[in-house]
Amino acid sequence: MSIYIGTHLATEESRPYNFHMCGIVGYVGRAEATPILLEGLRRLEYRGYDSAGIAVVNGEHQFETRKCAGRIASLAKLIARKPASGHVGISHTRWATHGKVNDENAHPHFDASGKIALVHNGVIENYQALKEQLIQNGDTDFRSDTDTEVLAHLVGNIYEQLDGKDSKARLMNAVRAALKQVIGTYGIAVVHANVPDFIVGARRGSPLVLGIGRDENFLASDVSAIVAYTRDAVYLNDFELVALEPDKFEISSLDGAAGQHAVSRVEFTAEDIKKGDYPHYMLKEIFEQPFSVRDAMRGRLSFEDCTAKLGGLNMTPAELRKITRIVLTGCGTAFHAAMVGEYLIEHLASIPTEVEYASEFRHRNTPMTPDTLVFAISQSGETADTLGALRESRQKGYRTLGICNNVASTIARESDGGVYMHAGPEIGVAATKSFTSQLVILTLIGLLLGRMRHLSTAEGAQLIEALENLPDKVQETLKLSDRIKTLAKKYVDVSGVLFFGRQFNFPIAMEGALKLKEITYLYAEGHPSAELKHGIIALIRPDLPSIFIAPEDAVFSKNLNNIEQVKARKGPIIALTSGNGAGRLKGIANDIVTLPSVPDCLMPILTVIPLQLLAYHLAVELGRDVDKPRNLAKSVTVE
Ligand code: F6R
Repeated sequence: MSIYIGTHLATEESRPYNFHMCGIVGYVGRAEATPILLEGLRRLEYRGYDSAGIAVVNGEHQFETRKCAGRIASLAKLIARKPASGHVGISHTRWATHGKVNDENAHPHFDASGKIALVHNGVIENYQALKEQLIQNGDTDFRSDTDTEVLAHLVGNIYEQLDGKDSKARLMNAVRAALKQVIGTYGIAVVHANVPDFIVGARRGSPLVLGIGRDENFLASDVSAIVAYTRDAVYLNDFELVALEPDKFEISSLDGAAGQHAVSRVEFTAEDIKKGDYPHYMLKEIFEQPFSVRDAMRGRLSFEDCTAKLGGLNMTPAELRKITRIVLTGCGTAFHAAMVGEYLIEHLASIPTEVEYASEFRHRNTPMTPDTLVFAISQSGETADTLGALRESRQKGYRTLGICNNVASTIARESDGGVYMHAGPEIGVAATKSFTSQLVILTLIGLLLGRMRHLSTAEGAQLIEALENLPDKVQETLKLSDRIKTLAKKYVDVSGVLFFGRQFNFPIAMEGALKLKEITYLYAEGHPSAELKHGIIALIRPDLPSIFIAPEDAVFSKNLNNIEQVKARKGPIIALTSGNGAGRLKGIANDIVTLPSVPDCLMPILTVIPLQLLAYHLAVELGRDVDKPRNLAKSVTVE
């Protein structure tokens, strides 16, 4: 076995275990595995980018292993120096939330014999007990601090104890027996150097998808890693294993029963996940919004009945009419969409609506009426907290629907129904187009429920007309990009930014602040404008600008009062407005950005765009890594 590792020295405190929400790619076939694995890892890098590694089996049944701390680019350099050739291999890109980032902790990990390589996403909660058990059996040669290595050793240990000439069945059984001892979550890929052309995959709580090719098969934690090679995919369920060979695959349960599978056609192509002419995915995705907003409502507007058609909810009109309460749950940006959703649904349908952080909802006793409808909102459909909330809600007997972008995701599959965003792949770590798609869908839900209650035909028709025109308004808003870039240059030296908004735009203040924090690392807060005078005003100073989201809407004059309050304390003010707002803000705000006009309830879909652009341009000015901001990962599959 030849292991080449990089030379990165970790400085962080060593901890005995780590959590991952990382990427896995496996390949078995006739082609050279390494370029495919490397390309797959690049596609997954947005999910984790602390360290990376590959192990391929060479012609002498030896592992060629390359792994190092750092980005995929560092791994690629390592491989360029020491090429690794073989037709079967597994690879991993890691995002650690605990434990140091160093070469040794990078995956793949090996069993004691060095013959079994394993990559893992998830957390082995009882790794300590398993490790002690292995040590008692004389297996002491652990090279990393990871829980993953313990699993690799366990598989190896069991493999040695099993008899049988059929080495493939033996490896499957060893993995199966090891996983039965595991408490925790996993998506894994396992290869044995002496079992040719064979990969074992398994999942529990961490996604794994199998890509079917011709005389080659793929395994990945996210289909975007393999869509360049095949669009035929099988999504594994929890407690399922897959045995993968170049020309066949077999799915079975942890108990050994043969599994059912359905082959899905992946909606998007490899082209869709390319940056094209854009310098960053985030900018590309911001500029895709006229299309993603259109796609979120495509086929879902009924001009005849002046309502929305959402068949995916899987609910009859009678059931929908019975709903007395709605709970919207999600994390981060999806939570902010939920906050706008509360305003939208109460405004359009007058149904009491509450918003809960998924992480809070799942662990507390929220009093619920029997006719409560719960929506779990998640771009990835894999966020652990949102999935936990969905499961908790279903367990308590509530109808729980998903609003997801990733159609094959766990949340999409485990919910009672839902509405897909159809926004296309979102690669930039900062969520942009998924947010505006979520807002469109929440508007459609409000419209549908509203039209079953008090909302008139005329009001429904007006909203539909406005929705129809919305993509053009989004396009018009995007023309502000250069102006926002100028503002970013002007404000590049600020110590932070405060964001304020009212009503529909209060959550946009929070979303604007989140975007800024995530990719510029500047201090930022978002608040309802009126809260200013209840404490925040103490922060006002010349190097801390306030951005007011103040379209010419029902609360414009109220916003104007708050703007004056900041002005009186010499705080710089950037105002986002619409209609005649600019005229009234002249001489008060330092900078005024005028957006197209739309009905008040649709305004957040426009007001968020200049804030996305501001975060983007400021991050570029500050030299930040826009698509891979520090410490963040796109999909948070740990609690
Ligand atoms: C913000 C961001 C995160 C996600 C959050 C939920 O830009 O990307 O805050 O919004 O982790 O992710 P999903 O929507 O995939 O559940």
